[in-house]
Amino acid sequence: MIQSSSIGKPVSRLEGRLKVTGSAKYAGEYETSDLLYGYVVNSTITKGRIAIIDTTDAKALEGVIEIFTHENKPSTAWFDFQYADMDAPPGTVFKPFKDDEIKYNGQPIALVVAETFEMARYAATQIKFAYKEEEFETSLEANLHKARDAKKGLASMLKPPPPKPIGNFQEAYENSFVQSSGEFKHGTEHHNPMEMFATTVVYEGKNKLKIYDKTQGTINSQMYVANVFGLKMKNVQVIAPFVGGGFGSGLRPQYQLFMAVMASLALKRNVRVTLDRAQMYTFGHRPPTIQLTKFGADEKGRVNAMYHKAIAETSQFEDYIEIVVNWANMLYPADNTLLEHQLVPLDVYSPLDMRAPGGSTGMHAIEITMDDLAYKLNMDPVEFRLINYSEKDKSSDKEYSSKELRKCYLQGAEKFGWDKRNPEPRSMKRGSKLVGYGMATGIWDSNRLLARVQAIMNKDGKVEIKSAVTDIGTGTMTIMTQIAADELGLPLEGITFSYADSKMPFAPIQGGSFTTATVGPAVKAACKSLNKKLFEKAKYLENSVLSEVKFEDVTFSNGFIIAKNNPEVKFNINEIFNYNEGKPIQTTSTSMPNPLTYGKKAKAVHSAVFVEVEVDEELGVIEVKRAVTAVAAGKIINPKTAESQILGGMIWGISKTLHEETILDHQFGKYMNANLAEYHIPVHADIHDLDVIFVEEEDQFVNDLGVKGVGEIGVVGMPPAIANAIFHATGKRINDLPIHLDKLL
Ligand code: MOS
Repeated sequence: MIQSSSIGKPVSRLEGRLKVTGSAKYAGEYETSDLLYGYVVNSTITKGRIAIIDTTDAKALEGVIEIFTHENKPSTAWFDFQYADMDAPPGTVFKPFKDDEIKYNGQPIALVVAETFEMARYAATQIKFAYKEEEFETSLEANLHKARDAKKGLASMLKPPPPKPIGNFQEAYENSFVQSSGEFKHGTEHHNPMEMFATTVVYEGKNKLKIYDKTQGTINSQMYVANVFGLKMKNVQVIAPFVGGGFGSGLRPQYQLFMAVMASLALKRNVRVTLDRAQMYTFGHRPPTIQLTKFGADEKGRVNAMYHKAIAETSQFEDYIEIVVNWANMLYPADNTLLEHQLVPLDVYSPLDMRAPGGSTGMHAIEITMDDLAYKLNMDPVEFRLINYSEKDKSSDKEYSSKELRKCYLQGAEKFGWDKRNPEPRSMKRGSKLVGYGMATGIWDSNRLLARVQAIMNKDGKVEIKSAVTDIGTGTMTIMTQIAADELGLPLEGITFSYADSKMPFAPIQGGSFTTATVGPAVKAACKSLNKKLFEKAKYLENSVLSEVKFEDVTFSNGFIIAKNNPEVKFNINEIFNYNEGKPIQTTSTSMPNPLTYGKKAKAVHSAVFVEVEVDEELGVIEVKRAVTAVAAGKIINPKTAESQILGGMIWGISKTLHEETILDHQFGKYMNANLAEYHIPVHADIHDLDVIFVEEEDQFVNDLGVKGVGEIGVVGMPPAIANAIFHATGKRINDLPIHLDKLL
């Protein structure tokens, strides 16, 4: 009798009710006595020095406790600061209040601490600053001559540099039967999670802190605080059970954490620092990027030459890296490739991973170029991709651990009704509007890192699973509960997943779509090891029915250990607790990929995206009327939360293509639309029919759950599919994002 499986069931988020009823407490909401409030003041110049800070008036205001700047920063700050954080690019991490130097517009330069948030914010307006301004450069396009290769660093483990050239691109391209080249521009984008960054620090005395932080990694924030302030790791506890969206913005500890901890240690008080929406535009963004492509194919439609170059913005202090140009040869097995990625350092803050960093940028250029080639070859875009289908990652010359992209193309096309497409641009209409069908491929890395998990069974037979991992809204808590329930043969109610506390066993930052493939196997391993321990205890009890039975020959079901070949041989786990005075039974497991074999295969998730747009040429209005995304991502633990991931990604894809962009005024070096009124994102009226298909994909190589990760893959294929649909509708290739109506007219 096998316990019916929780894995694969569309379980609703277990914490959903807490969130929608407002009972979930976020970092800026924890109640604690005698709380002080910090408000950050940001630089209004872009580059230079702070000449004078006059805090006299501000300090005199009632309720103002202290004002911190670089001039009076406590000596504890930047104690023995050796390294940065788990997502730090090569370079020197930005240190708030280090000195009088201004490196970018919006840099935090003062923290007012007061008895209420309102007092702090008002006092902040009463501080007078005088600056010595210097010349600055913030325009990528005006500084292309400064483009250079990125420095290498630890980050290159998950973000490898472009693969080396193969064959002879130039010659192959020149001799191609058809050629396509393009230039692509992407604007800056800022993460706009609903929850703004906040930290509540509870001062527990003697350099001991309990910190509620908005973060995608509790241990990452803990290490940052311990290192910056020279505290013992065990005296820094970081807690973040509810995170109102991350999208990459919480992969690095942000400056409100530094500010809140600094003030708390200096004042020996509880302190909260909350950023406002405008301040959310002062610590990282998806960088503006310019790309060039040149692809060539032979008369049979085989792509034989691919050139892809990206030039992206970075800051003056770090070389932010994302994977933009590595994808083409992972998908299409051209024999001649040249792939380049360069950076231009500018007077801005370092860019920061934003959902599908690099992938959603690079695949836009690659898949539009592929669409253009298909047209030049007079071939259907899906057929063209099938001709160039490969089971191998040509760039690393490795087989894929699994790749069911073909099924994605076929099932996606079928569901969408791709066969109803007349390939001729401008040939399809609905009333006065042009209709376009476009498609594109998506790809994203499938990664797995190290994690530890503890499993504890209490005498009531319920099991607590512990991991420091966060749940940034993706459903992590729910699916980890499902994985544990399955392995232990318990209903979901029999499991408590305790998480998002740095005191719990190690988990890396939550990002890169690698959390389920990283923490999931660790949960499974810990539960398996708990089962073994229970079995051993059961077997050696006096007169145990299991005395002659082996672990391999039993199943665990609803608190019983049962022989697989004889359901009569049934042991009630309760009995163990009768003999051990009810003491909990616990195990901790470390789980990681096998270093000897894991690198032997290429690992990626794939998607095929089909989009219908309607274009009103007179008004320049573009609407995505329908989209279908078919995803191959290995085992889907929870089709409901996984579908939500893909839907969110698709909506972001629509946003990236048609709406969002942060505009920097190069005269001032300042983002001009740092608010949700002028930073356009889609509303309900912009989103129509979206469909998600998960195709069957078996993969026992990536991990024993067969999980490859969903998250980023939802956004990757959308921008090119939409742009290709706009071309089909209008006959216009628009390569610069976002595509606002002025670009169509
Ligand atoms: Mo995501 S950009 O890996 O949080």
